[in-house]
Amino acid sequence: MKEDVRALAAEFKAFLRSREEDDLTPAAFTQAAAPSADETETSSAKDRLTVRFVRERELSHAKPAPLSLQETPRAAEETELSAPVQTPVQTPAVSSVSSDREVPVSAAEKQAALDQIAQEIRACKRCPLGDTRLHAVPGEGNPAAELMFIGEGPGFDEDHQGRPFIGRAGQLLDKMIAAMGLKREDVFIGNIAKCHPMVNPQNPEARGNDRAPNQGEIAVCRKYIERQIAAISPKYVVALGGVAAKALISDTKSLGALRGRFHLLHLDSVELKTPVKILATYHPAALLRNPGWKKDAWADLQMVMAEMGLKRPAA
Ligand code: URA
Repeated sequence: MKEDVRALAAEFKAFLRSREEDDLTPAAFTQAAAPSADETETSSAKDRLTVRFVRERELSHAKPAPLSLQETPRAAEETELSAPVQTPVQTPAVSSVSSDREVPVSAAEKQAALDQIAQEIRACKRCPLGDTRLHAVPGEGNPAAELMFIGEGPGFDEDHQGRPFIGRAGQLLDKMIAAMGLKREDVFIGNIAKCHPMVNPQNPEARGNDRAPNQGEIAVCRKYIERQIAAISPKYVVALGGVAAKALISDTKSLGALRGRFHLLHLDSVELKTPVKILATYHPAALLRNPGWKKDAWADLQMVMAEMGLKRPAA
């Protein structure tokens, strides 16, 4: 018995060490910025790590599940809230990365998985945003994208058309993507929250009625973006703004502390088959308000370009 406890403690220690190693950038680069007040690790962050340890341990000790897109077991209330288990995408091809679980490999298989998720999102009423939205906004783009951009949640224009990043911020995002030598269709664009968070939910026809999704909305909705990431299996994710960065990288650090380096992405509800690097940068709406930040955002995007071997297109 004592031996079991010792072994478990050793496993937990090793897990904590591996999380420290997840920060992919040499420490020297990150030490340039002095830590801000909200960078200190809180007990809730420790709790999250413990929960993740337990989940990952359960996963690694679980019998191989037949399909990777099926959600991994979660807390009881999550099971209650979740939509019926999706119909598996039956394909002959399996990932070479994993022998025990099938994952969509071809673009068509990935698209089928994304369509299934989008269908569930459009039917979703798991939080009050589902009652006040005009259109759910699942996300769009290349199902086999190497690069995903993830924002916080739809605004007025997106709510009216059911498409992500099509308002002013979206037009700037298109320019950022073009500056990287890519087209909008090359990447996948999504959001953490799939429905329009409004200051006054009674008035979806008012412009400027936007707010960031709250923690409850993010918690309920995050399984969708996680499943989308798992289905697409990109190499890189760019988190646009603090809300997306905090939801996907660390809820205890500021955007300023998270920017400027790659992190290894970990998801709560889905096991990633191949490593995904995530980089946080400013939200295009913030860049519209603070054009002086564009050079920092451009420096961030250039880091992604360097990793992807992209060259800036000739002017
Ligand atoms: N802002 C976001 O975060 N997402 C959108 O889709 C549009 C604006």
